[in-house]
Order: sequence, then C-alpha cells, then structure tokens
Amino acid sequence: MLVVDFGAQYAQLIARRVREAHVYSEIVPHSSSAADLVARRPSGIILSGGPKSVNETPAPSIDPAIYDAGIPILGICYGAQLLTQQLGGEVSRTGRGEYGRTTLTVTGSSPLFTDWPGGGEVWMSHGDAITTVPAGFVATATSPDAPVAALHDPDRAIYGVQFHPEVVHTERGRDVFERFLYDICHCPPSWTHTSIIESQVEAVRAQVGASPVLCALSGGVDSAVAAALVHKAIGDQLTCVYVDTGLMRAHESEQVEETFRRQFHIDLVHVKAADRFFEALAGVTDPETKRKIIGELFIRIFEEVARDLVIEEFDAGEGDSGGTGSGGPDEPSGYLVQGTLYPDVIESGSDSAATIKSHHNVGGLPDDLAFDLVEPLRLLFKDEVRAVGEELGLPHDIVWRQPFPGPGLAVRIVGEVTPERADILRAADAIVVEEIRRAGLYRDLWQSFAVLPAVRTVGVMGDGRTYAYPVVIRAVTSDDAMTADWARLPYDLLERLSSRIINEVEGINRVALDITSKPPGTIEWE
Ligand code: XMP
Repeated sequence: MLVVDFGAQYAQLIARRVREAHVYSEIVPHSSSAADLVARRPSGIILSGGPKSVNETPAPSIDPAIYDAGIPILGICYGAQLLTQQLGGEVSRTGRGEYGRTTLTVTGSSPLFTDWPGGGEVWMSHGDAITTVPAGFVATATSPDAPVAALHDPDRAIYGVQFHPEVVHTERGRDVFERFLYDICHCPPSWTHTSIIESQVEAVRAQVGASPVLCALSGGVDSAVAAALVHKAIGDQLTCVYVDTGLMRAHESEQVEETFRRQFHIDLVHVKAADRFFEALAGVTDPETKRKIIGELFIRIFEEVARDLVIEEFDAGEGDSGGTGSGGPDEPSGYLVQGTLYPDVIESGSDSAATIKSHHNVGGLPDDLAFDLVEPLRLLFKDEVRAVGEELGLPHDIVWRQPFPGPGLAVRIVGEVTPERADILRAADAIVVEEIRRAGLYRDLWQSFAVLPAVRTVGVMGDGRTYAYPVVIRAVTSDDAMTADWARLPYDLLERLSSRIINEVEGINRVALDITSKPPGTIEWE
C-alpha cells in the first residue's frame, strides 16, 4: 500500500495502521508522478490528511492521472477533499469546521462501512467541507458539519472519508482500513513479524555473502534488534563491538554481555574504555564540546577494533572481497550494521540515502576501511522493531528500554565529567529507574532519569552539616521527543525517590524535580 504524504505526521500514522492490519505500506511524497506510483505496482493508494486547505495556493496536489490508473484509492480528510476537487466536485469554506469527536451517520451502502452500517463516533479535523461530489460519485455518510463525510465511485474504486480512521478516537477506524485493504484492494494480511524476520534474514544473507560484518552495540533497542536479526541471518560472520565509555547506565554493560555473549553466543568485543573517555573529558564543561570529544573518541576506538578484526578475517581467508565496497579489491572491507529506522529514511527524503547517524554510530571512518551498510530495520517503525526484538528472544529490559543519548551520562552531568560524578549519577539514576518501574510507569514515560548539576548545596544529616550535590529528577511523556510534557508523578513515588536517593547515594543531599515542558526546555539538561 502506498501512502501519499501531504504533510504533518498524518501519513506515518496511516502507514502504521495499515501495517497493523498486516499489509506492508510505504510513504511516498505527493510530488511522485502517476507513472512512478504505478511502477511500484501498489495494491492500493491512500491519500493522507494534511495541514493545508485545498483552496489555498499553492496547496499540495497529486498527478491526476493516478485516478485513471485502475488502482483503488482512499482519500482521508485532505486526501478526500483533494480528490473531490481534482475530479470536478466542490470543496468550500462553510464556516463550520469540525475539530475533535463527532458523530458519523452512514447514509448509503459502502464497502468501507460493512462492519459499521449505522456509523458512530469519529474524529474530525477540518475547516473546509466537501459540498458537491464529483460526477460518478455518491455521498455515503454525513456528520453535523460535513454534508459529505464519505463518498465513493465504486466503478473506479475511488473512496474518500472526511474523518480520520487512523486516530484511536474513531470508534471503528480499524474496520474501515481493513475493509479497504482486504475487500477493495484484495491485500492478504501477510505482513507479520515472522515474515519481516524471514525476509530480512534472506536479504542480509544475499547482501553480505561470506564477508565479515561488524555491529556497534550501544545497549539501546535499535542496535540490539539489528544485531540479533543479522546474527540470525549469518551467525559467526557477525562481530559486535560494545564500547564501554564509563558513561553508561547501571548494569548496562553486564546486560549487553549477558544477552549477546551468553544468550545469543554472539562474538562480542567489549572494549573497556572508561579511562580514555574520562581523560579526554577532563576540564571540559561545554555541552557541545563534550559531545564532540565523545563522538570522536568513540569513532577512533571503533576504528581500531574494526581494523584489527577486518584485517584478521581477511588474513584468515574467511571473507570474500566484501560488499561493493569503495575500498578497492585489495583493501580490507566488510559490512557495518546500522539500526536505521523507517522514520529516519522518510525524513532523509530519499530511501536511497544511507547517511550514517550521529556520533554514537560510526561516522567518518577512514577511506581505507570501506564499509557497506547493512540496515535490516530500515523499513520498520519503532513499534515493529520492538515486536521483532521480542520475537527474536531479546529480553524485555532491552526491547522496552527508554531512549538514552549517545554521549550518555556526560550530558546529564552539568559541569565537568569525572568518574566520581558519573558513579554518583549512575547510582541515583538506577534508583529512579527502579522505582519508576516498580510504580508501573516505565513504559508510559518517554524518558525518566536523574541529572547531576555539579554544584553543591548545604544540608543537615544527623548531627552534621553536609555540603553535597543535588540530584534532579527528570521524567517526561512524549510521542517523538520533538515536544514533551513533564510527567505528573505521584507524590508517594516522589517521596520514595527523594528518601532513597539521599539515604543510599553518598554525595547527594538534595533532590529536586524538573517541571519544565519541551519547549521551552529540552529533555536532556545539556
Ligand atoms: P532533547 O534534550 O533535545 O532530546 O530534548 C531529544 C531526544 O534526543 C536525545 N538526545 C540525544 N541522543 N545524542 C543522542 O543520541 C545526543 O547528543 C542527544 N541529545 C539528546 C534525548 O535523550 C531525547 O530522547
């Protein structure tokens, strides 16, 4: 299923809903020509909503030849208005928009509504309304302020709905998608986590042949799932590299060892490089300088390991010439696993873009180490990555782990990063995570962690005066980290956090709570 993007985040949500119905979907720009769309041989096309009005100029449009291509089309909100306008109907500003919940009344017989003959609660968000349907179309539903809330031309298999079936507030939105996908487009529900794994295993094998493959594990979800998937495909040809920067969360290194070396029997190179990172960070307080130092040192270490490993593999005659590598036939080359996800691919604007993500992955490797990228997750959304991870047998703790910044605890210590401060912060952070989990809130929060501003404040404990660090609790809800709200944690949880951190972590005598949303704050303190 191709989902044509008309802006904002609507297309991504639609694409995810289609996949939840076990049909593979991809997002394409609205500037694609009809010939390009047809060449992809889709079973159907969905025109997404968008933030503009079809009556604005310029407003995003689509090559109208697509309506005559014999491919079933479903327009949603803006998409429905656009097809109405392009096919000769009318979309007007009635002055009575609908925003939020409203009631849909089905007035005609439509294959979209076979499960939902009367209609019911739907989510709307429109200022304009379809007032006249194009020739050949009939209106099939209405709502208080949308005279035409659904329309179709069954002969050409073109459908439109004014409401948003992709939004959870639309009672039977899922059914509307399923009717379109299964009954109108005749797509089998065959896109499952098992089929994703099978097809990616095949694809990885075909891509890498007998070449050595490297993967930098960070402890995060994406690199962990990518590694497990590639390992399923090629076993011992994969070597994982985990660089312990000394800035990881509590137990992270042990968990990586336990999971990858002992459970999956993956060849794991564990580089204990904390001393090198602390030495490089000595005296540095500027956040961006910290990021730069950590990123560069990470690359240098990875490069040292990679060079040794790749050369070793080639000396042992285990690899072929490796990929289509730019390194030339005589130079050691191989493949590098990268946990790129589908939203990164869409945002980079082209699905052939293979840019290496920032610092914590491997950017700027020297030319004589030519790696080709293996990106087994590049077609997947985050929730699919997690489901694949579970199916591959990765532990819950890894699969459901909250995001953690590449530079680690360094950007949560405001001021100079020292081993002592990293230890204090790690201990406080572990208590935050443990209590949040115990309260059953870990998965509901986007991130929850501790921050250590390296200032000291006065306190009193027992008979003595203390002069120690404060710790700040940061917990946010968010969908995508672009915006976030501070989490309203229950008072009894905050009380437990405060007393446990002060009693158990030496060096802390005060606990504060960050109640800043994003914007204006960022999630991390640096
Ligand atoms: P901010 O602090 O900008 O963070 O609201 C948004 C999201 O990005 C993460 N973050 C980073 N991730 N390297 C990373 O890999 C970084 O330097 C970095 N800084 C912030 C942050 O944890 C949040 O999820």
